[in-house]
Amino acid sequence: FPGGLGPQPADSLLALIGAFRADRRAGKIDVGVGVYRDPQGRTPVLRAVKEAERRLVAGQETKAYLGPEGDAGFFEALKPIIFGDADHGARLVGLQTPGGTGALRLAAELIARFNPQARIWVGEPTWPNHHPILQAAGLEIMAYQHFDVATQRLTFARALDALSRARRGDVALLHGCCHNPVGADFDMTQWRELAQLMRERGVLPLIDLAYQGLGRGLDEDAAGARILLETVGEGLLAYSCDKNFGLYRERVGALYALAGEAAAAGVVQSNLLALARANWSMPPDHGAAIVRVILSDPALAADWRTELAEMRDRIRGIRALLADADPRLAPLRGQQGMFSTLPLTPQQVARLRDERGIYMPASGRINLAGLTAETIPTFVDALASLR
Ligand code: LMR
Repeated sequence: FPGGLGPQPADSLLALIGAFRADRRAGKIDVGVGVYRDPQGRTPVLRAVKEAERRLVAGQETKAYLGPEGDAGFFEALKPIIFGDADHGARLVGLQTPGGTGALRLAAELIARFNPQARIWVGEPTWPNHHPILQAAGLEIMAYQHFDVATQRLTFARALDALSRARRGDVALLHGCCHNPVGADFDMTQWRELAQLMRERGVLPLIDLAYQGLGRGLDEDAAGARILLETVGEGLLAYSCDKNFGLYRERVGALYALAGEAAAAGVVQSNLLALARANWSMPPDHGAAIVRVILSDPALAADWRTELAEMRDRIRGIRALLADADPRLAPLRGQQGMFSTLPLTPQQVARLRDERGIYMPASGRINLAGLTAETIPTFVDALASLR
C-alpha cells in the first residue's frame, strides 16, 4: 500500500459498544450508543417485525434484484407517515437507501453534483457522523450554533443570524425531531421563521429525520419537516427506520427529494438512481420488506404504533424522573427523544466510566433509554460525585 495512509481513530460512539461489553463490573450502566432499551436493558425485536418476518419467510418467492430504487412499496408506504396529507405528486421522488446514513451520503453527493459551489450549514453540536459523511462527498461545511450545552438552551437567534449569511443555493442540514445529541428541537413558531428565511435566501433544506415517533408522536415529530418543505417548496429528506421500527442492523432508510416542478424531479431521480448504482448498486431488501409488510396491513401497523408509543412513553418517563431527581437536570424535561447532552468535561466522562462503570461518549451525550427507574438514583448520585 502507498505510505500515505495513516491510522484512523476508532469511531468514538461505536467504540463504546466494545468497551461496555468488556467491563466486568456488576451494575455498569450504558448510556452510550443510540439504541432503545426496555426496562430490562434489552433492545427487543418488535412484535410487528417478528410477524412480518414470519410472513416474508413463508411467502417470499424470489430473491431476484429489485433495482437501485429498492422496494417501491416500502418507499410509498412511508409517504403518509412522513408527509401526512400533503400530496406532492410527481414533484416528490427518491429511493430506498442502506440506513439513514446511506440517505445522507446520497443527498450530499447529489448536492455536490447539482451545485459544486454549494456550502452546507450544519448545526453545532450535531451527530458526530454528519461531518464525515458530508466531507466524503466533498461539501464545504459552514456552522450555525444550534444549542448551548452549559445553559441547556437553544440558540435560535444565533442560528438564524448565521443562516441569514447563507448564499443562494447553499444547503442547511436540520434535525427533523429528537435532536441528536441534544434533544432540543425548534418549536412551530421557530420552524416557520426558519422556513421563511430559507425561502427568502434560497437555502435548500436537507432534513435528517431519524427518530420520528420517539419524541411527541408521529405527526408531531414530522411537523417541522412538513413546514419546511411546504414553505421552501423544495428539499431533501433523509429518513431512517432503524429506531422507530427497531431495525438497526437491517439498515433501513430512504431519501426523498421534493423538487419545485415535476420535470426537475425526474432529472433528480435519474441522478439519484445513478449515484445509488455507483455506491451500493442496490440496497439490501429484508428490512424494507418488513416495513412494507407492516404498513400495508392495518392490524400490524396499529400494533407497531402501539409499541412505538410504549417506547416513546418510556423515554419520556425517564426524562421526567431525571428532571425530578436533581434540579440541575430539570431542562431535560422539555427535550425530546433518546438523547440529551450533559455539561460534562471529557475528564468527568472518563471518571464516570472508571469510577462508576457509566459509559457515554466524551461529549457528555446520554441515551436516556439506557436508564431505568432503578438505576436513576445511582446515575444521579454519580453525577453529584463529580462536583
Ligand atoms: C447514535 O447516534 O448513537 C446512533 O445514531 C448510532 C450511530 O450510528 O452513531
